[in-house]
Amino acid sequence: MFCKSLLSAVALAAVTLAKTSPAETLDELSLGTWLENIAVRPNGDILATQMFPSAIIYTIKNPTKKPHTLEQLVDLPAIQNIYGIAQVPTGPDSERYVVVGSNGTTIANPTVGTFSAWTIDLVRDSRCGKTKVKKVSSMFNDSRFLNGVTEIPGVSNAVLVGDSTNGNVGHLDLKTGKFDTSAFVFPEMDPTEAVPFGVNGIHIHNGYLYFTNSATVSIFRIAITPRGYPAKGAKVELVINLSSKASFVDDFAFDADGNIYAATNFDNSVISINLKTLKVNTIVGGVDELTVAGSTAVAFGRGKHDKETLYVATGGALAAPVGGTKTEGAKVVAVDTDAN
Ligand SMILES: *[C@@H]1O[C@H](CO)[C@@H](O)[C@H](O)[C@H]1NC(C)=O
Ligand SMILES: *[C@@H]1O[C@H](CO)[C@@H](O)[C@H](O)[C@H]1NC(C)=O
Ligand SMILES: *[C@@H]1O[C@H](CO)[C@@H](O)[C@H](O)[C@H]1NC(C)=O
Repeated sequence: MFCKSLLSAVALAAVTLAKTSPAETLDELSLGTWLENIAVRPNGDILATQMFPSAIIYTIKNPTKKPHTLEQLVDLPAIQNIYGIAQVPTGPDSERYVVVGSNGTTIANPTVGTFSAWTIDLVRDSRCGKTKVKKVSSMFNDSRFLNGVTEIPGVSNAVLVGDSTNGNVGHLDLKTGKFDTSAFVFPEMDPTEAVPFGVNGIHIHNGYLYFTNSATVSIFRIAITPRGYPAKGAKVELVINLSSKASFVDDFAFDADGNIYAATNFDNSVISINLKTLKVNTIVGGVDELTVAGSTAVAFGRGKHDKETLYVATGGALAAPVGGTKTEGAKVVAVDTDAN
């Protein structure tokens, strides 16, 4: 889809003319919707969770082929909002995803005590096979804002789940449903009085749990054990303070070189962070743009032809309208990160 040789021929012009990467909206839902998280299946299909107005998981099959359509894959009528999604390792015949969700009043305003975690089982690589949905836990009766979910590499019976309001990351046993909220409790995960969202995106990379804190607009990390608990004596380290570059930081993904791509939500952009040089670039969007309005989460392609395509989920700027007035339906946008 994107031509590398042509791009290098115009590379000089590109430096001065095109600061951001090419972006294409794959599909957009109706006004008043909010997609909160995104995952990509091993077969390349996209999964996107809807936080508002109802608990739906959408899929976009074959995102490199037209037409790209957000189709409903699963709905969870027992809850009203879905937040994070993560895949856990399984046997060769199936795929398993874990989502967390809750009931709530308005956008991003969950009701304490209504959270639950669910597994979604899909037939491996099948686009039309049966899906099996199962509630695995009612979490903690004082869970206030369960948000990010991450796989623990190689672990099939547990995930980590962050609580943006309580400021911790818990360890959820998928067999027993036991949710240990004491696993990671650090002040760097807390929200602030001004911004009630602390720990948000959580991902494990090279033996560390990386997490964003939306309120302090920072990324932190802590060394972990293979089972997904803090390593003995490990301390939280600041990876980068983005507060001079963005007003909010939501979920993120690593590329193959270990750079971070983060959605900025209120800033309507995606930024890249080179962890060696700590250089930060806006790769798509901007405060006054609708390109990725209300960007919530990002994930790289896993198909044959889209490994350098970053898929961005958005919430249509419902929380912070662009220019104070403009909102739109939630969408999924494909961004070619190889073009710069
Ligand atoms: C959550 O909302 C659903 C759908 O509106 C309702 O059926 C369910 O009883 C609610 N759950 C709680 C714990 O209030
Ligand atoms: C949670 O459960 C505990 C023990 O049953 C109870 O003491 C506490 O009040 C409950 N908290 C909430 C927020 O309902
Ligand atoms: C980030 O930088 C700002 C501005 O210098 C500072 O006020 C804030 O305390 C820093 N936050 C963290 C988490 O280091």
